[in-house]
Amino acid sequence: MNRNDSPQSDSRNVIIVGPGAMGCLHAALLGRMPHLDVALLDYRTDRAELINEQGVIIEAPAGTYTVSVPCTADAQELSTADLVIIFTKAYDTLAAAEHCGPVVGPETAVLTLQNGLGNYQVLQQHFAAEQVLAGTTASGATLLGVGQVRQAGISKIVLGSPIGNQALADSTVELLKSADLEVELTADVDARLWRKVLINCAINPLTALTRRRNGELLESAALRDLAGQVAEEVYRVGQAVGIDWGEFDPRREVEKVCQATATNQSSMLQDILAGRRTEVEYITGAVANAAERHGAAAPLCQCLTALVEGLTEAEGEG
Ligand code: PAF
Repeated sequence: MNRNDSPQSDSRNVIIVGPGAMGCLHAALLGRMPHLDVALLDYRTDRAELINEQGVIIEAPAGTYTVSVPCTADAQELSTADLVIIFTKAYDTLAAAEHCGPVVGPETAVLTLQNGLGNYQVLQQHFAAEQVLAGTTASGATLLGVGQVRQAGISKIVLGSPIGNQALADSTVELLKSADLEVELTADVDARLWRKVLINCAINPLTALTRRRNGELLESAALRDLAGQVAEEVYRVGQAVGIDWGEFDPRREVEKVCQATATNQSSMLQDILAGRRTEVEYITGAVANAAERHGAAAPLCQCLTALVEGLTEAEGEG
């Protein structure tokens, strides 16, 4: 939306930063609601123009649909947002924060739903900590082309305020629920982010290294066991960090996600296949660093980080 356009008084402005698979999927899910004024923010002008013209195209199990979502590379063209959702790769979080600065006012909620550890801390350094929210989603999406996504399954969003800004977390949950999304509020964001990173540590590097879909990890007894060992290692590191895991069986949870997203290519496998840099540094790499800081051991996470980095270099990106 143009800065000079005034949104309908009861409409809410949502800006999604990063038109990757998850960014486009959520832009479509939110953008089809008439009471939400949704725009995508990219850093590439050519890609933004294409998405702006063609819309976001979602190949869903029930059929393909297109949602017209304004997309721009110039944040100055957009109005101040009620909610900004950061969906860039973890290594681009700081750049994303800088880029979306013009649409973040004092009342704006800035929510990261990215993979990996450390994203909300970067946002807290850039914006007021009270306006930063963090969460997870395990929805499966594959980027088929610019603005084109195959939707594998829509899962619940879990979010909260890392510093306990309950009012902002509540109003953001309500906003997302108003778009018919399943959303849960959590009082312990770090525990949720560790649950998600545990899943990503166990699935993403192994699928990227073996070029298998998530469900195929369960078909090999050796890979299934290795994924379980990685999950247990992350669980132990989390305990050393002070994460409250609650009722959480690491092996079972990984297997459940592999089954639920069986036909999905993990985001890391998609990155490897597309010759892109992966987020391994923020997944197994971040867990290995946390282990070092807290006197725990994470040899599997260390090893997987080195292997994926080596694979990326061998494929010509880095
Ligand atoms: O990164 C991913 O691909 C996803 O977080 C997950 C849950 C592993 C499903 O593919």
